[in-house]
Amino acid sequence: MKPQISPKTYRVKSFGCQMNVYDGERMGELLSEQGLSKAPDGEDADLVVLNTCHIREKAAEKIYSDIGRLTKGKTQQKAPMIAVAGCVAQAEGEEIMNRAPAVSMVVGPQAYHRLPEMLDKAVKGERATDTDMPAIAKFDSLPERKRRSPTAFLTVQEGCDKFCTYCVVPYTRGAEISRPFSDLLGEAHKLIETGAREITLLGQNVNAWSGEDEAGRAVGLAGLIRALARFDGLERIRYTTSHPNDMDDALIAAHGEIDKLMPYLHLPVQSGNDRVLKAMNRSHTAEGYLRLLERFREVRPDIALSGDFIVGFPGETETEFEDTLKLVDEVRYAQAYSFKYSPRPGTPAATMDNQIAKEVMDDRLQRLQARIDRDQFAFNKSKAGETCSVLVERKGKHPGQWLGKSPWLQSVWIEGDVRIGDMVEVDLVEAGPNSLRGELLGSR
Ligand code: 5AD
Ligand code: SF4
Repeated sequence: MKPQISPKTYRVKSFGCQMNVYDGERMGELLSEQGLSKAPDGEDADLVVLNTCHIREKAAEKIYSDIGRLTKGKTQQKAPMIAVAGCVAQAEGEEIMNRAPAVSMVVGPQAYHRLPEMLDKAVKGERATDTDMPAIAKFDSLPERKRRSPTAFLTVQEGCDKFCTYCVVPYTRGAEISRPFSDLLGEAHKLIETGAREITLLGQNVNAWSGEDEAGRAVGLAGLIRALARFDGLERIRYTTSHPNDMDDALIAAHGEIDKLMPYLHLPVQSGNDRVLKAMNRSHTAEGYLRLLERFREVRPDIALSGDFIVGFPGETETEFEDTLKLVDEVRYAQAYSFKYSPRPGTPAATMDNQIAKEVMDDRLQRLQARIDRDQFAFNKSKAGETCSVLVERKGKHPGQWLGKSPWLQSVWIEGDVRIGDMVEVDLVEAGPNSLRGELLGSR
């Protein structure tokens, strides 16, 4: 590769989960520290970071078409410098380098703190790959948080030791690690200083987080949440994504005791059938999962429940799929995500017998989504007529219109004289399938 002109502007395009969004922000902060500036919306950037997701479907193919689009009809000097980051980089780094000569850098999710050194190499015309997994090191070498937004993500835990048989995460993100308590309080403090009023704690298995508090006592996620709740200026705390097997009494109790902890729980179940759950290596039963949700409802009756589902896991019969529908009917989720099973190279399920035909998966997905949509709409309607706080996050399409979130993570549209970052009291006057309309009562 020829030496390249040192890029002055960058764009990070993040796909997939919220952890990728967090990583994307941190890569942006690193590049800003290097003197690059974020390319204005709609303008070409000199450096494009494709922060990829490998969890489902043809993520890798999508990257090659993105690369094609970025370089089409352009000489090397005119085309942007391209870095591929995220889980596809981790899983298929070498192949990307071989297949896409336009890519200068391939950097895995645990190595992106070394992006500046890679950039120096790339400018000299050397292509660089870094897919090491030195776990915690990354966070120590990242610059201080400078973003300004009323809502912020904070990665507290990374990686996964669960090895669900369909999932690539244990391979791309590595083993479970928890960031130290004091580092997290420090980062939260910075986020609050720069305007965050809501922090969402992130982790592939966020409720597996463990650490030691200032007094050296062992604490779990509930302990961390309690400590964060003591910060003035921080008004809302959320966390995602949890695993049923890592749930402890303290976290359940926290939902009944800590006002700043929002009444929302994302707890994936994947299937409502015990044979399928076993084949998925989920190590919980449908009944066990339902009992767990009941305990949350006991301490916080209004809690909004959310989950993830996979339809068409290898061997899933119609009757087994119907167990998933039954579970949905029982839980009445406020919101949920459902996916068609997608064989991921290197995972045990990819080579299992009885892969399910696409048409069957399409049909099951549609049926499942219809029920989830029904319950989501019902949940929204159940809130119409109530008053709640809304944190204003952005402008709406029309002048004077704003979008914020209710405590239950619903989108709420309001009109009036407010600013981004205001916490306002609203009457929820009308419910739609995906959002509610609120009328302003006051702000603080
Ligand atoms: N196919 C389909 N969905 C998957 N998920 C994870 N791996 C796969 C796969 N191979 C879903 C699970 C998980 C969510 C993040 O993505 O539901 O909870
Ligand atoms: Fe993947 Fe299962 Fe780990 Fe979730 S718990 S990241 S689905 S292996």
